Amino acid sequence: MSPTAQHISAKNFGKNFQWGVAVAAAQNEGAANMYGRGLSVWDVFARNSNKIKGKGKPTIACDFYHRYKDDLLLTKALGFNVFRFSISWSRILPDGTGKINKEGIDFYHRVIDECLKLELIPYVTLYHWDLPYELEKKGGWPNYFVNKWFNRYVTVCAEAFGNKVKNWIIMNEPFAFTSLGYMLGVHAPGKKGLDNFFPAVHHAALAQAEGARIIRQKVSNANIGTTFSFSEIVPYSDKKEDVEAANRVDILMNRLFIEPALGKGYPREESFRLTERMHINNKEWKYIERLQFDFDFIGIQYYFPLTVRYNGLIPFVRASEVKAKIRKVPHTDMGWEINADSFYRTIKKIWSYDNVKEIIITENGSFFKDEIKNGVIDDKERINYFQQHLNAVLKAKKDGVNVKGYFAWTLMDNFEWAEGYNARFGLVHVDFETQLRTIKNSGFWFRDFLST
Ligand code: GAL
Repeated sequence: MSPTAQHISAKNFGKNFQWGVAVAAAQNEGAANMYGRGLSVWDVFARNSNKIKGKGKPTIACDFYHRYKDDLLLTKALGFNVFRFSISWSRILPDGTGKINKEGIDFYHRVIDECLKLELIPYVTLYHWDLPYELEKKGGWPNYFVNKWFNRYVTVCAEAFGNKVKNWIIMNEPFAFTSLGYMLGVHAPGKKGLDNFFPAVHHAALAQAEGARIIRQKVSNANIGTTFSFSEIVPYSDKKEDVEAANRVDILMNRLFIEPALGKGYPREESFRLTERMHINNKEWKYIERLQFDFDFIGIQYYFPLTVRYNGLIPFVRASEVKAKIRKVPHTDMGWEINADSFYRTIKKIWSYDNVKEIIITENGSFFKDEIKNGVIDDKERINYFQQHLNAVLKAKKDGVNVKGYFAWTLMDNFEWAEGYNARFGLVHVDFETQLRTIKNSGFWFRDFLST
C-alpha cells in the first residue's frame, strides 16, 4: 500500500522514537560579527558574490543567538524532544585554528543547558557548511591541512561539551558542500572545477571518519552519527543511455560519501571515468581504513527523487535532470518532486548496506510559498508533505528497518543558503524585519501529531 494512504500519529512509532527539529548555525544564529566570532565562508560569499537571491546575508538570520531561549521553548511547546543544531566553527575558533573564543564556548553551553533544562535532547552537528573564512584563505577544504584544523576543532568541542552532549553528528551532507561549493561554485566559497572538487571530497570524507574517532576517544558513552543527502535517481526512460546516466548520478549523489564511511572505499565504475580519476587523484587505496568509521547511526536527509536522462553536453557525468515541472508531477516551490514512495525505497536501500546499524531521518521538509492571512498560515501542502513522508518512515520501520528518530527541517524559516530568505521551510514563520515568530498550521499539526 502506498505510504500516503494511512492516518497515523506519533504513537505508531513507539515510545522511544525521537522527534526533533533541525537547525544550523549559519542559517539561524546571526550575531555574525559579534562576541568574538570570526567570519565564515558564508558571510563573505554573501557579501561578495551575486549568487544569493535577494542579496540575503546570514548576518542576523533568525537572531537565534539572542533568542535561543524562546526558540527552544517553542520547540518544546510543539512537542518535540530533540533539538538538532550545529556549532559555528569560527565562533569557537575565530581563525579556524589557534586561539579559542571563550564567549563562543559559553554561548553553546547556554544553549545546551537550556535544552537539558527543557528535556530536549541536544544533537550537535560539528560541521554544517560554515568553514572559517581564515581557513578558506589558506585553501579551504582542498587543502591537505584542513584535516589537521578540523581535528583540532573537534577536539576543542569534545573537551568543552562532551560531558553534557552525548549525541554527535560529525558532518552535514558532505556531497552538498563539496559539489555546490567546490565544483559548481554556486555555494560558498564559490570555487569550481575538479582540481578543487577531488581533494575537497577526499578531505571531507577523511574528516568525517577522523572527527568521529576523536569523539569516540574523548566523549564517554557518545552516540555518533553523520548525515548524507540521498535522492533516488530514476532514469527518464529504459533506454540504455538513460539508465547508465542515472547510474553515474547515483554514484556521485548517493554513494560517494557513504561507501568510504562504511569501509567500502570510494565507488568505482569502469565506464565512468570520473571515478577512476578520483581514485588516482585521492590515492584512495592508501586510505580505505582511515575513511571508515563504525558509526552508531547514519543520518538520512531526504527531500526529493531525481529523474535524469543522458546529456552528452554535460562534462563527465553526461546526464541532466528532467524537472518535475516538465514531467507534470507534484513538486514543492523549490521545484523538487514530491514522492514519498521514493523516500520509503531510499530508506530501505540505505538499510540494505551491511554496516548500517541504525538510521535517523536527520532532515526532511519542504518549501512552499506561505501566505499570512489574519495572522494565520494555513500551509496545507507542507502538512501533506510531512504526512506522506512520515507514513513512508513508518512503513520502513514496520518492515524492520531500525529507524530511531525523525527530525523535521526546520523549526523556523531561516537563511536558505543561495536561496536567501525567500525559500521558507519552517514550521514557524519568521518576519525577518521584526523577528516575530508565528506558528504555521504545520507547526500546530505536528503538535497534535506528537501529543497523541
Ligand atoms: C539541506 C541542508 C539544510 C537545508 C535543507 C533545505 O540540504 O542540510 O541546511 O538548507 O537542505 O534546502
